[in-house]
Amino acid sequence: MKKYIIANWKSNKNLSEVAFWLNNFPNNAESRRVLNSLEIILAPPYPFLTLAKEIIEERQLPIKLAVQDLSAFGSGAYTGEVAGFNLQDLHVEYAILGHSERRRFLAESSQLIADKVTEALSWRVKPILCLDKPYFSEQARFLPEDVASKCLLAYEPLAAIGSGQAQDTGDLLPIRKELQPLYSAKALIYGGSVNADNVGSFLKVCDGVLLGGASLDLTDFVDLLFAASESLSV
Ligand code: PGA
Repeated sequence: MKKYIIANWKSNKNLSEVAFWLNNFPNNAESRRVLNSLEIILAPPYPFLTLAKEIIEERQLPIKLAVQDLSAFGSGAYTGEVAGFNLQDLHVEYAILGHSERRRFLAESSQLIADKVTEALSWRVKPILCLDKPYFSEQARFLPEDVASKCLLAYEPLAAIGSGQAQDTGDLLPIRKELQPLYSAKALIYGGSVNADNVGSFLKVCDGVLLGGASLDLTDFVDLLFAASESLSV
């Protein structure tokens, strides 16, 4: 199975920076071959989804699109929300849901996040459900097993996010054991201070990584992709 490399740009980049990044993403035969072992997923800010879709299609880049959030409501009178319906035809395949920054700055609750997960699935958008230890079991209580089992789980310890202090890779096996009975989930992704130097060791113990800072600069990101791919071939 391909390993997931998820680039979450958060509220970074303007239109020209997005265009630059995507227009310069390597796309020759050699890079395509090297990157073939990876499922590369990009979550740009909402306003740039259409542009990203267009450049990805035009250049036939091996990149799938994700959103960083999704409304728990359907289409209709929900000012400021972006509904699954709004995403139709944008080829969005994944949604990052319940990121700790949304819990922290936007007071998202486990109930609301569960509603978002259900809504995403109803639009055939695959949820990447972010989790940290304090709410492993609380979040699971809001998700029926058949819903939970369809999520990709992203374990994101708060102290590791944006701090340069990644979690010890040895902690991931017990985390996987703890999450398995709660979510019956197949894939475990790790997020928090992943970079080109440590990505290989994370990919040995989990199914992918979620990146914030290391996805912003194209050169750094491509270095990380090549390091990830190389780590899988040894
Ligand atoms: P970071 O962010 O890679 O900048 O630590 C990770 C995340 O928020 O998922």
